[in-house]
Amino acid sequence: MSMIPNWQEFASGQDLAEELADTVAHNLAEAISARGTALMGVSGGSTPPPFFRALSRRKLDWARVTVTLADERFVPTDSERSNARLVARHLLQNEAARAAFVNLYHACDSVEEAAGLADRAVGTLPLPFDVLVLGMGTDGHTASFFPDAENLTELLTPASGRYVLPVHAPGAGEPRLSLSMPVVRQARFMVLHIEGAKKKDVLEAALAQDAGPLLPVRVVLDHAATPAQIYWAPKEDRRT
Ligand code: 6PG
Repeated sequence: MSMIPNWQEFASGQDLAEELADTVAHNLAEAISARGTALMGVSGGSTPPPFFRALSRRKLDWARVTVTLADERFVPTDSERSNARLVARHLLQNEAARAAFVNLYHACDSVEEAAGLADRAVGTLPLPFDVLVLGMGTDGHTASFFPDAENLTELLTPASGRYVLPVHAPGAGEPRLSLSMPVVRQARFMVLHIEGAKKKDVLEAALAQDAGPLLPVRVVLDHAATPAQIYWAPKEDRRT
């Protein structure tokens, strides 16, 4: 177990995926009964596919659900690095095939231009997010708030006037598009989904920081309007 607040620990990634799918489906259904629609943001990377597949099978009025990403790599949608492709292949299947998807990626010459278009698209959504599932890297980034991002101050500002921002960070591999801190922090139900001992150690260290620049994940958790739930399981070998 862990001293981390709202820590939910599972025996395996698959157990976590099923439980998280139940909880997320429940939150989406509640949003639909309260407001007629539900808005969900999910993350990419290697951790989410089992959760995506479990969630895709949950019975729900998916036609009333809009899905978008917490962050996206600035790569075409048919790239293996595309989070939109990951979501299309693993989440927007089965029952969830009826959900609407809003792409952050746009085929532009620069990530700045693409972020401008994504900013407009996200600005039309019924914010705040009903569900936002974030991941975390072992460098302490979440969404695309990379510790070495050129515009880290802007990314971590709780009150920037943007919905989506471009990100250039050596640690990110390629330029990125990220929901902004004000959008992330307002989520009605925020989950941090992490697996493996290393990420647990990083999160514990981030929460224990009392000096120096705080890791981005810590800044997000500190500013979250509703305390994030931390879903953790040991890391397993698997193919996505
Ligand atoms: C992405 C993400 C990113 C991710 C973490 C964890 O596009 O990479 O959305 O923020 O959640 O990097 O990635 P892993 O699950 O691959 O460890």
